[in-house]
Order: sequence, then C-alpha cells, then structure tokens
Amino acid sequence: MAGGHHPILAGIAGWPVAHSLSPLIHATWAKRAGINGYYIPVAVPPSYEEFARGMDAVRTLGFAGVNVTIPHKEHALRYADAASDAAARAGAANMLTFGAEGAFADNSDIAGFAAAVREKSSVPGASALILGAGGAARAVALALQNLGVARIDIANRTREKAGALAKAFGLSLVGWSDRSEALAGADLVVNTTSLGMSGEPPLHIDLSLMRTSAIVADIVYSPLETPLLKAAAARGNRTVDGLSMLMHQAGFAFRQWFGGEPAVDDELRAMLVDELKRRGRM
Ligand code: ATR
Repeated sequence: MAGGHHPILAGIAGWPVAHSLSPLIHATWAKRAGINGYYIPVAVPPSYEEFARGMDAVRTLGFAGVNVTIPHKEHALRYADAASDAAARAGAANMLTFGAEGAFADNSDIAGFAAAVREKSSVPGASALILGAGGAARAVALALQNLGVARIDIANRTREKAGALAKAFGLSLVGWSDRSEALAGADLVVNTTSLGMSGEPPLHIDLSLMRTSAIVADIVYSPLETPLLKAAAARGNRTVDGLSMLMHQAGFAFRQWFGGEPAVDDELRAMLVDELKRRGRM
C-alpha cells in the first residue's frame, strides 16, 4: 500500500471550508487506488498572519501540500518561497506543495478550467467572451490563452476592473451593457461573475445572437446548472459546469501529493452530484 504506515496528509485551507467537495474527491481517488492518505479541511481565519500560522502548523505536521481557497489564494502566493509561472501570472495560487526547498505555489484552476473545456472540444475556437473581472476571470483568461484562443473579449459591471485585466493580458474591453451583442462573435462564453449562484440574482443576458456551436461555461457549481447553462443547453449549446473544473483542478493536486492517476469520470461526478443534493445545494 502506497504511503506505508505513515499516511500521506494533504488538505484544503479556506474560510469557510466546511462546504468544500475536495475532501470527498480526494478520499474517493485514494480509496480507488488503495493509497493510505487523508485530505483534510483546515479552517484558517481570513488574515495573512493567520494563514501563515496555519501553513507553518500543517508543515510541522508533515502535510505534503494544501489546496487554498477563498480568501487565501493571494496569501498563498505571498507565503510561498517559489511559484510556478501560472501562479505568478494569475497573481494567486490554489496549491502549496511543501518540500525540502520550501513551499511551492501553483495554480491548477487554470489547467483545471482548460481541461474541462477540452473535454467538450479539442479545438475550442478562435474567440471567447469572459463575463466578470475578479480572480476567477484572471485564471480563465490565462487558461483560454493556453488553449490558443486568439481573441478574448471581457465585460464587467465595473468597467475599470475589466480594463485592468484587458491591459494586463491583452484582452479586448467590451461594455457591460453590450454583453449580449458580444456573444455573436464568441466560440466560448465564460461567466465568472457571482450572478447565477445560489442566493444571487441570475445573469441577465440575451442568448439569441450566440452561435449554436459556442461552448458556454459557468465556474460555479451551486447550483450545478445555473440559469445561464440551462438556457444555453435548451438552445443546443454545449456547456461546461463548475464541477468539471473542480474535478480537473483536484486531479493536479492528487497526482502531486498522493501519486497515481486520478480519473475524472461519470462515477465521481455522480457521487458529487448526490452529495450536493444531500446538502440541498442543487
Ligand atoms: P472571484 O474572485 O470569484 O472572481 P470576485 O473577485 O468577487 O470573485 O468577482 C466577482 C465578479 O462578479 C466581479 O466581476 C463582479 O463585478 P464587479 O467587478 O462590478 O463587482 C461580478 N458581480 C457581482 N455581482 C454582480 C452584479 N450584481 N452585477 C454584475 N456583476 C456582478
């Protein structure tokens, strides 16, 4: 049994963290592979000081690494001794790996999103529209560029924030009120705003100009089928939901810390969907 008598330890640091599906994903893969390992939610209060203390503590306990979620993704980059290009470019990290040389920051949200899109199409197209301009939009922009998408439009309620991202990553700025018209040229449409999440208002957008061949992605998984994805699927568009991105980003961490080849498959998805239903999150 890999890991021998000493279980491999990893986890997720966030605030809040109790709702995270990552422990279930990693436990499922560890069980499938017969790996002696535990992936533990670690509640770390919001400040950088608390985060640094928490990371020092899990390193003392011998953790191989931790995933990092809200509100610590920028803290993780600051805490790390070194970072991948992806994390440095995103300005945020969702993985810290602890080794003899120190803490290494990486960002698997980028590769996770790219893998989720690639599941639907090996050739994602030449042009994309990103809605929103927060941390998730940065990761999505980098993922789309890695996929070879040549033209990326970005629209955000607060124009200045989209403008800053457009400048940093070479994107084209579109007005928030022009978002429906901007759909006409897009092969990929990605909602990174909080609109459409449980408890939030829906994203108001007119899909009538969108190509039927376009892929529509939403990065949240509560609800799993957001009003945007539902409307897109009803007109025959392919969709990518937040659960696909979550499972793929988890795969990078699992390979890194536990080893083996974690499968993102229908059985895992069905288990996570059941769990969301059990929690009344769908
Ligand atoms: P994340 O790091 O997950 O991207 P965030 O940084 O809080 O989260 O970003 C939330 C995004 O949702 C922002 O683009 C935000 O737009 P603003 O920059 O204008 O705040 C967008 N958003 C949230 N509520 C919105 C609303 N009611 N209408 C339009 N956009 C909204």
